[in-house]
Amino acid sequence: MMNDKPKQAPTERAAPSAPSEPRRPSSPVCYAHEMESLHAGHLDEAELVELLNTLLEGERAGDKLALAFLRESPSEEATVLLAAVKRDEARFAAMLERLIERLGAKPSARVGDFYDMAMAIEGFAARLAFLNRGQGWVVRKLQAALPRVKDERIHAALKGMLGAHEANIARCAALLRTIPQ
Ligand SMILES: [Fe+2]
Repeated sequence: MMNDKPKQAPTERAAPSAPSEPRRPSSPVCYAHEMESLHAGHLDEAELVELLNTLLEGERAGDKLALAFLRESPSEEATVLLAAVKRDEARFAAMLERLIERLGAKPSARVGDFYDMAMAIEGFAARLAFLNRGQGWVVRKLQAALPRVKDERIHAALKGMLGAHEANIARCAALLRTIPQ
C-alpha cells in the first residue's frame, strides 16, 4: 500500500555510497539496528556454517558417548539421565544439520574428537565428569556466539540448545556427587 503522506525532503541518512543497492523503505530505528549489527560483529554465513558444523560434530560425539556410557550405567538414576542426555544430543545434532542445510551448506559427517578423548578415560564417574566438561565447552561456545548470530530463527534454536545443555550439566553434576569417585 502506498503512503499518502506528503513527500518529505530527503534526509541525511540516504546512503549515497551504495547506489547499486535497491532503495528500501527504512526507518531510523531500522537504520540504527543495521548499524548496531555492523558493530556487533555478526558472523557472516561462512562463519555461521563453521560454528554450526563444530557444534554438530560435538553433539554427535555427545550422542555416541551417552550411548556408550548407558551400557556401563551403574544405576537406574544414571540410566534415566544418560538416556535424556542422549536424546538431547541426537535432537540437537539433527537440528544443527537442518540449520546448515537451510543455509545451503553441507553438514559435517565427522564425530568430534571429544568422543575418543572421553572413551580413553577409565571409570564411569571420570568419564561422566569429562562429558560434563565437554558440555560446559558447548555452553561457553554458545554464550560467546549468540550475540553474533543475527538470524532470529538460528538464534532461537541455539538459545534452546544452550538452555538444555545448562540443565543437563546441572543434572549430571548432581548425579556425580552421588557416585563415589
Ligand atoms: Fe552437547
